[in-house]
Amino acid sequence: MAHDHTPMMLTLALTAVVAMGPHVARAGTSDAPEVVRSVCAGCHGADGNGGNPTSAEFPKLAGKQSAYLRKQLKDYQTGKRKSPVMAPLAAALSPEQIEAVSAHYAEQTSRPATVTQSALLATGKKVYVDGNVESGVPACAGCHLPDASGNMRYPHLAGQHAPYTYAELRKFASGERDNDRGLVMQAVAARMTDEEMKAVSEYLAGLE
Ligand code: HEC
Ligand code: HEC
Repeated sequence: MAHDHTPMMLTLALTAVVAMGPHVARAGTSDAPEVVRSVCAGCHGADGNGGNPTSAEFPKLAGKQSAYLRKQLKDYQTGKRKSPVMAPLAAALSPEQIEAVSAHYAEQTSRPATVTQSALLATGKKVYVDGNVESGVPACAGCHLPDASGNMRYPHLAGQHAPYTYAELRKFASGERDNDRGLVMQAVAARMTDEEMKAVSEYLAGLE
């Protein structure tokens, strides 16, 4: 599904790169770095909680650890993590801007996202807290912490848009996303059923 939006997102990304020239301040948190207000906010929100409900494929960045954000931006720059939308945007960032945007979004507070399939919440919680002993899915909580707030090694996942989390789990499972150190998330996702991926994504969306 996300592929249908790619041409539109590419146009947005190119517009955003052009906007990096003469900086135009838009609405946002007043202390946000200039590049956040003029470029990133359009898709991720100035406070990292996203622009509007239709932008569910643009991940929320609020509360994600700065080390994680920095790593992702560098991986987009080198092509280690592939995204036609983020590649040109990350390429335009200086090392100082990467530090500034990572610190800014790490300091923001994540809010719960929309839960559309509440019937899946119980299954999602079970997968998150216990994993699946039969198929060998480890408990997500073991690395990402019980409240999904993460730490310096494992990213914060709480409050993320469910379509984004689900898409990333699919990409880890297929090997399309392979920038995880030691391929640890690939090993986790490869053991999950589609239902488990959907359910855990809904559960995470509802967390604070
Ligand atoms: C045109 C919309 C758009 C703009 C503008 C944009 N992004 Fe993104 N961003 C995306 C999309 C889409 C993804 C998911 C890409 C993928 O699948 O890897 C993403 C992913 C990310 C991620 C990875 C998130 C995670 O949880 O792993 C980071 C970090 C990020 N963007 C930072 C930024 C920063 C910093 C800026 C401003 C310089 C920015 N983005 C501007 C659309 C955008
Ligand atoms: C052994 C530790 C470990 C376990 C267990 C684990 N993860 Fe992860 N996870 C990671 C690491 C490390 C990353 C960061 C990968 C990177 O640097 O790109 C990650 C990244 C992710 C991401 C990408 C976040 C983003 O913003 O793009 C999602 C989604 C995710 N994990 C979901 C889960 C779920 C759901 C489970 C349980 C089924 C789980 N993880 C279990 C270590 C783990």
